[in-house]
Amino acid sequence: MSSLFDPTKLHDLTLQNRIVMAPLTRSRADAMGVPKPFVRDYYAQRAGAGLIISEGTQTSFAGQGYARTPGIHTPEQIAAWKTVTDAVHARGGKMFMQFMHCGRIAHPLNRQIPDLPVAPSAVKPAGQMWTDQQQMQDYPTPRALETAELPALIDEFVTAARNARAAGFDGVELHAANGYLLNQFLASNTNRRTDGYGTSVNGRIRFVVEVVEAVAAAIGAARTGIRVSPGHMFNDIVDANPLETHRALLDALPTAEMAYVHVMLPDAFSPQLNNAGDPQAVLPSLRPHVKGALIAAGNLTVASASEMIDSGLIQLAVFGRPFIANPDLVERFKAGAPLAEPRQELFYTPGVEGYSDYPALAT
Ligand SMILES: Cc1cc2nc3c(=O)[nH]c(=O)nc-3n(C[C@H](O)[C@H](O)[C@H](O)COP(=O)(O)O)c2cc1C
Repeated sequence: MSSLFDPTKLHDLTLQNRIVMAPLTRSRADAMGVPKPFVRDYYAQRAGAGLIISEGTQTSFAGQGYARTPGIHTPEQIAAWKTVTDAVHARGGKMFMQFMHCGRIAHPLNRQIPDLPVAPSAVKPAGQMWTDQQQMQDYPTPRALETAELPALIDEFVTAARNARAAGFDGVELHAANGYLLNQFLASNTNRRTDGYGTSVNGRIRFVVEVVEAVAAAIGAARTGIRVSPGHMFNDIVDANPLETHRALLDALPTAEMAYVHVMLPDAFSPQLNNAGDPQAVLPSLRPHVKGALIAAGNLTVASASEMIDSGLIQLAVFGRPFIANPDLVERFKAGAPLAEPRQELFYTPGVEGYSDYPALAT
């Protein structure tokens, strides 16, 4: 059987297999960012994964972008998450929390605070986003962060990391992918700063490096991971040279000591990467720049994941959509059993339907 199902280690952390549940926003928190009680059931049902990465979770009310996403900055949120991690640990699973500060990908109607969303620069994203009160709305133009605000923003990530550990998470993943705040610092179309946190590649990677270093200093590099999506144009990201930017970022990070670097593979063709339609081509070009564990997500199958793990290209294989309708995904993979299809129309709805009500295979 493939080594996909074998236990492995991330530094001192033992995982029961090499299958990871991807971060999946499901919008099942209340208006104050507290996960609903049935969030515990949903994650516990999926604890057969070697590692679960939580849905994108905001580090402050100002970091929220979407309706009903959870936070990790109030006592009520921490207490609710503790019930989740306890249930996952009771089933032998491990769990990291993904920190998602949405930056400019936000609408005031989705937030508890009236302030405009913040971003590296005041560049309005193309497109619209969902709000519960007024359905689809244009993105507002964000407010550019002052240089003097950046240390407090870094502290916010550090406090959130301590909160996540207090809530029982085994570690945290910094979301520097998919066009959210950290990705907005990295990309040349969203970062027009001239204060040392922009302009050159070294300037654009600086804030992300400082956040990683501060979080790693607080909770340990071995419990700190990062997610990147070089070449993705999701959320209106267009970088002048995504491979150059990401290689420089990885070279500047303590990747040997960190938990992992998580790459979200581009869809089949990325005009940004000129990858000739091979979504996995980005991995060999980043591999030399990652001194520790490299993990990847994006349309993986048992066959492609096994091949990449067995060849040593990646250490863990990350699955997103297959986990939504298959709580016992690892068992189904082992048995070669058919997979259930998720109901997309229920991805972001508030209740248990299409969430914690997908059955495991009868045994
Ligand atoms: C409903 C849904 C919500 C998602 N939410 C997040 C998120 O909160 N953070 C993130 O980094 N990626 C998010 N993603 C991307 C997934 O983590 C994953 O990379 C993507 O689904 C590709 O993997 P797959 O082909 O195995 O589904 C989301 C994807 C879906 C379908």
